[in-house]
Amino acid sequence: MAERISVTSPDGDYDIVIERGLLQRIGRDTDQFGLDSKVVVVTNETVAPLYGEALVQSLPDATLITIRDGEAYKTLETVAQLYDAFVDAGLDRAGIVIALGGGVVGDTVGFAAASYMRGVRLVQMPTSLLAMVDSSVGGKVGVDLPQGKNLVGAFKQPAMVLIDPDVLQTLPPRQWRCGMAEVIKHGLLADEGLLDSALHTPERAAELVRRAIQVKIDVVEADPYEDGTRAHLNLGHTFGHAIERVTDYKMLHGEAVAIGLMAAARLSYNLELCDDSLIPVVKDVLESAGLPIEIGDLNPTDIYEAMFTDKKWKHGRSHFVLLRGIGQPTIVQDVPREIVIETLSNGDVAR
Ligand SMILES: NC(=O)c1ccc[n+]([C@@H]2O[C@H](COP(=O)([O-])OP(=O)(O)OC[C@H]3O[C@@H](n4cnc5c(N)ncnc54)[C@H](O)[C@@H]3O)[C@@H](O)[C@H]2O)c1
Ligand SMILES: [Zn+2]
Repeated sequence: MAERISVTSPDGDYDIVIERGLLQRIGRDTDQFGLDSKVVVVTNETVAPLYGEALVQSLPDATLITIRDGEAYKTLETVAQLYDAFVDAGLDRAGIVIALGGGVVGDTVGFAAASYMRGVRLVQMPTSLLAMVDSSVGGKVGVDLPQGKNLVGAFKQPAMVLIDPDVLQTLPPRQWRCGMAEVIKHGLLADEGLLDSALHTPERAAELVRRAIQVKIDVVEADPYEDGTRAHLNLGHTFGHAIERVTDYKMLHGEAVAIGLMAAARLSYNLELCDDSLIPVVKDVLESAGLPIEIGDLNPTDIYEAMFTDKKWKHGRSHFVLLRGIGQPTIVQDVPREIVIETLSNGDVAR
């Protein structure tokens, strides 16, 4: 069944369409999606043979551009290559750029579309679970610098977000689990129903995506430019980013975020923000999704030190999104260093 959800944004409202088999249908219904003008489809080398080539062939006037796969290519060099390819393809301001892929493609291509000719229309077609429930909605686009992740970017609201949950059938299981970490984050922030493990299967992906995306929509509609409550989306991420950094990014983002969500729950309890019922809920749902919950051999002090370079810690003051309970995020500053380190070291009970 097709779902069309309208998102309100100060830069223009847009629709999200979630529909199984959508990718196969677009070429037959180009006028419905406004895709009969010049279209450039940008994807990566993994997604191109799976979905990109067929999509381009099904559209009346489309060019395929393929970038390398991986966070290592979320760079200004790739953006420069995209500008060249856009010119070669004859793309002008009347044209449309489709970003077909995971969050790396969405962010990189989105940034190129935001800046090429001062902005051309962008259609996000997320193909990973993370991109479907998180990065394709809300308009944040950008690339990494050698000095750090996501240091260059813009707000570029999509003209449309097109989601075909069937493409998740080819998503590697480890990437599925990483997307699940963000789904669980959304559940903890605002929708307890998302914590039901029965929903966490590829067979129920359409329903899962529909529900998880709604949490993101509600947050970005309330705070489009991240002046306030949008920061709640960083639940588990202060820990997560630090863990990614100390493992030299060997641990994937979603895995680090899972450990971060567990740590956030424990820290919430250790600071007496919530009762102890939260901890087993978070632990069970992460474990049943096959995600890690412990830092293992990593050094808690190293993780703490790595948090200091987090761009969200203004003036060196610690800054955590924590939970008073499910659906009740809160921002806490100046948490004593020892409590954070103890929380990371000792597991369930630090008191
Ligand atoms: N803009 C935002 O608001 C926002 C939010 C969260 C994350 N992000 C960014 O998103 C990126 C992570 O995105 P990601 O987790 O999707 O990683 P990714 O884009 O690297 O995709 C993960 C892997 O899955 C492959 N893949 C994607 N869809 C597939 C499919 N259907 N079948 C087979 N393989 C497929 C990709 O080629 C890649 O190898 C990070 O750069 C992060 O900073 C952005
Ligand atoms: Zn994340």
